[in-house]
This record gives sequence, C-alpha cells and structure tokens, in this order.
Amino acid sequence: MSGWQRTLIAVKPDGVQRRLVGQIIQRFEQRGFKLVGLKMVQASHGILSEHYGELRTKPFFQSLLTYMSSGPVVVMVWEGHNVVQASRKMVGQTNPAEAPAGTIRGDFSVHVSRNVVHASDSQEGAQKEIQLWFQGKDLLDWDCCDQIYTI
Ligand code: TYD
Ligand code: MG
Repeated sequence: MSGWQRTLIAVKPDGVQRRLVGQIIQRFEQRGFKLVGLKMVQASHGILSEHYGELRTKPFFQSLLTYMSSGPVVVMVWEGHNVVQASRKMVGQTNPAEAPAGTIRGDFSVHVSRNVVHASDSQEGAQKEIQLWFQGKDLLDWDCCDQIYTI
C-alpha cells in the first residue's frame, strides 16, 4: 500500500518514571497503527549521540544526553499508513508550551527539556533510527487475529 511506513517512537525517561508508557502505547494502537518492535533500554551516551547527531552543536546537547540516559527508555517501532507524519502530529511540537491539548506533549508535559516522547521526523530519519536501535530480527511481522474466526 502506498504511504506504508515505519517510525521510531520512544518514551523518554520522564515518561517511563511518570507511568505514561501504557497511555502512550494506547494512543498509537487506538489510531490504528501496528506495533512491530518494542524494548526497554538503559541508553548509553554512545547510542544517544548517534540518535541526536544532528544536534551535536546545540547548547542543550550534553544535558539532553544526561537526561536521556538518566533512566530507562521504551523504544518502539510502529507501522502503518503515513505513520511518520501522523505520529509527529500526535506527539505535538518540540516545546510542550506550543503543543495543543490532545497531543501527547500538550497533554502530559510543560517543558522542552522533559517532553516525554520521541518521534522520528522523516522517513529517512526513521529508517536510520530504527537501524540504530533495533536488529532486523527483533522487528516482527505479524498478522491480525481476524484469522482466528476462520479456524
Ligand atoms: P528536536 O529533534 O529539535 O525536537 P523533536 O524531539 O521534536 O524532534 O530536539 C530533540 C530533543 O532535544 C527535544 O525533544 C528536546 C531537546 N531540546 C531541548 O532540550 N531544548 C531545546 O531547545 C530543543 C530545541 C530541544
Ligand atoms: Mg527530532
């Protein structure tokens, strides 16, 4: 199907510590996307420097890495029609002050340095991030349970 995509979504340490993992997963399931990979990781500065490589020169880079490695993150791959663009809309603006109510950041956060969730910002970015965080064998292709009704 055209528009079929995969994206990387991560619940950041503040989201995990605030017990928001379930609610965040629920929003993606409810929207109709398919979870094809999930793991909880204590991320190293090494993987985070690569993940946020484009921000290396920003003044907040070191504090971003410190925050992102301060506790486990839940990293996921979601699949579906236009999932990259749709999930950016579901997540809301980088600065939660600008993210409308109804978005994840708009509903659950107030400050840019603790904005609860990550979402890839392009298909190319998504591809790189998925390869960085997951091995191919850990992304599962599964069918819908509808087939159970035909047994
Ligand atoms: P960025 O990729 O610009 O935003 P997004 O997460 O929406 O793709 O920045 C990555 C993260 O860096 C962002 O989620 C939070 C952090 N950050 C700051 O701490 N301060 C800032 O001023 C910005 C722009 C980002
Ligand atoms: Mg980004």
